[in-house]
Amino acid sequence: MKKRFYITTPIYYPSAKLHIGHAYSTVLTDVLARYNRLIGKEVYFLTGSDEHGQKIQENAAKVGKTPQEFVDDIVQGFYALWKKLEISNDQFIRTTNKNHMETVQKIFSYLLEKGDIYLGNYEGWYCTPCESFWTDTQVGPNKVCPDCGRPVQRASEESYFFKTNKYVEDLLKFYDDVPNFITPVSRKNEMINTFIKPGLSELAVSRTSFDWGIKVRENEKHVIYVWLDALTNYITALGYLGEDDSLFQKFWQSDDTEIVHILGADIARFHAIYWPMFLEGLGLRKPDRLFVHGLLMMKDGKMSKSKGNVIDPYPLIERYGVDAVRYYLARETYFGSDGQFTPEQFVERFNVDLVNDFGNLLNRTVSMIIKYFDGVIPPYLGQVTAFDQEIEELALNSIKEYQENFKDLKVTEGIISVFKLISASNKYIDNTKPWELFSAGKTEELQATMNHLANNLYISAMLLKPVLLHASIELFHQLGITEDLQKFELLAKYGVIGGQTVNKGEPLFPRLKVNDEVEYIKSLMK
Ligand code: ME8
Repeated sequence: MKKRFYITTPIYYPSAKLHIGHAYSTVLTDVLARYNRLIGKEVYFLTGSDEHGQKIQENAAKVGKTPQEFVDDIVQGFYALWKKLEISNDQFIRTTNKNHMETVQKIFSYLLEKGDIYLGNYEGWYCTPCESFWTDTQVGPNKVCPDCGRPVQRASEESYFFKTNKYVEDLLKFYDDVPNFITPVSRKNEMINTFIKPGLSELAVSRTSFDWGIKVRENEKHVIYVWLDALTNYITALGYLGEDDSLFQKFWQSDDTEIVHILGADIARFHAIYWPMFLEGLGLRKPDRLFVHGLLMMKDGKMSKSKGNVIDPYPLIERYGVDAVRYYLARETYFGSDGQFTPEQFVERFNVDLVNDFGNLLNRTVSMIIKYFDGVIPPYLGQVTAFDQEIEELALNSIKEYQENFKDLKVTEGIISVFKLISASNKYIDNTKPWELFSAGKTEELQATMNHLANNLYISAMLLKPVLLHASIELFHQLGITEDLQKFELLAKYGVIGGQTVNKGEPLFPRLKVNDEVEYIKSLMK
C-alpha cells in the first residue's frame, strides 16, 4: 500500500454560482481525503478555480467588470461554500496565480521547443460555451456540439497545435498496462471507441479571438487554450518548474504516492486523453486513477439556471446542517452513475437513515445503559449468546467491506456497508429483548448486549467520521469515548469499548416533517 495520497477535484469555472452538482464532486473528494488521513496516509488534497477563457471574459463584460474583478468576486463564494461544507483541502489553486501562469508558459515553451507543439492554421466548427473545436463528422448534419448539443459556428484562426498523434500509441499502451486507470471501465471504452479509434485530430492549444488567458511568450497575440492551462493546475499547484518543487517531488514524482483525480463524466475526455499525453510530452509520470463520477440531475434533466431548477447548497446546509448535506451527497448516488436530486428523497434519507436508524440506535442504547447499568457501559465479555456471535461477525464484515470499498474509492458502497451494521444492531435489540433479560435477571446476557451495542455504535461512528463530521463527535461524547480511542487501527479488534460512562444528550438528528420540508426545499430551486 502506498503511503501517500494526492487527490484532486476538478477546478471549477467561476462563471456562475456553484450548485449541489459541484458540491457533489468536492464532498466525495473530501470524504476520500479524510478517510485516507484516518488510515494514516500522508494526504494532499487540492481544489481550485479555472479562471481563464472566452466565456469568463464575456460574462465579465456583461456585468461591466474586468475579468479579474469578476473572478475575484465569484471565487469568494467558492471559499465560503467549501468552508461551510468543511472541505479539508490543503490548497486552493487559482489559475490566475502568478506561479501557475508562469509555469504554464514554461510548459508551453518546452513543448514548442521539443516540437510537440507547432504553429498552424485551424479551420473547424467551434462551440463557444465548451471552448472546443470540432470536425465535420463530430458536429454531424445538424451542426451541433457533440458534448453539449448546442449549435456550433464555422471558425478559422492561426493556432498552435499539440501533436496528439505522436502520443496515441503510448496512451493505448498505458490504458492496457494500468487497467484501473479510468473507472468505471465503461468510460475507458467510450474514450477508445468514440474519440480515439475514429482518429484524433491534432489539438488546437492556443486562441487569438480573445485575450483573457495566459499569453504564449513566443507570440503574444495567442493565449494558451484553457484546457492546457487548467489541467496543468494539478502539477503547478505542487510547484512544478517553480522555485520550490518539494511538494511536486513528494506528491507527484514519488512512487510512494497514489495520485487520484476526481471528475465528472462531462470532462472525462480531457483528463483521460489529453492530460496523459501532456504528461508524456513533459516526461512526467501519469496519475494512478481517474475516478469519473456521474452527474447529479434534477427531475427535469440537467441542472441549469435557465430551467430554474438549480439548488444552492448553502441554505440546505443552514437548515439541515453540514452533516446531513454531506451525507446525502456521499450516500445517494452510486459511483459512476448519474443521480437525481429530489426534495422528497433528501428528506427521506434524512429521516430514515440518520434519524430512525443511526440516531435512534444511539438513543435507545444510551437510555438502556442508564437504566440497567447506572450509565456505565459494561465490559466486553466475548460472545455470550448466538446473537452476539452473529452481530460480531457482521460488524467485522462491515468493517472489511467498508475498507475494501473505500480503498476502491466507492464511497456510497462503503457507507452502505456501515448501515448494514446499524440496521442489524437495531434488529439485534429486537432479538435479544434487553427488557426481558433485565426482568429475568439475566445479567451476563444483558451486559453482553449493552456492550455489543456500544461497540457497534463506536465502529459505525468511526467509519462514518469522514462523512458525518459532527454527529460522530457527538456520538463519542454521548458514549464517553475519549480521543485516544478514536483511532482507526483499533478497529482491527472487536470489543474496544467497555467501562465508559455515557452522557444522555439530544438526538443526533431531529425528525423532519416531510411535507413542510419538501415544500421548503422546493422553494429553494431557482
Ligand atoms: O468543467 N452533477 O468546470 P465546471 C455532478 N473548469 N457534477 C457536476 C454537475 C452535476 N450536476 N455539474 C458540474 C470544468 N459538475 C472545468 C474543469 S479541471 C482541470 C477543469 C462537475 O465548473 C463536472 O462534472 O464546469 C466537473 O467535474 C466539475 O463539476 C467542474 O465543472
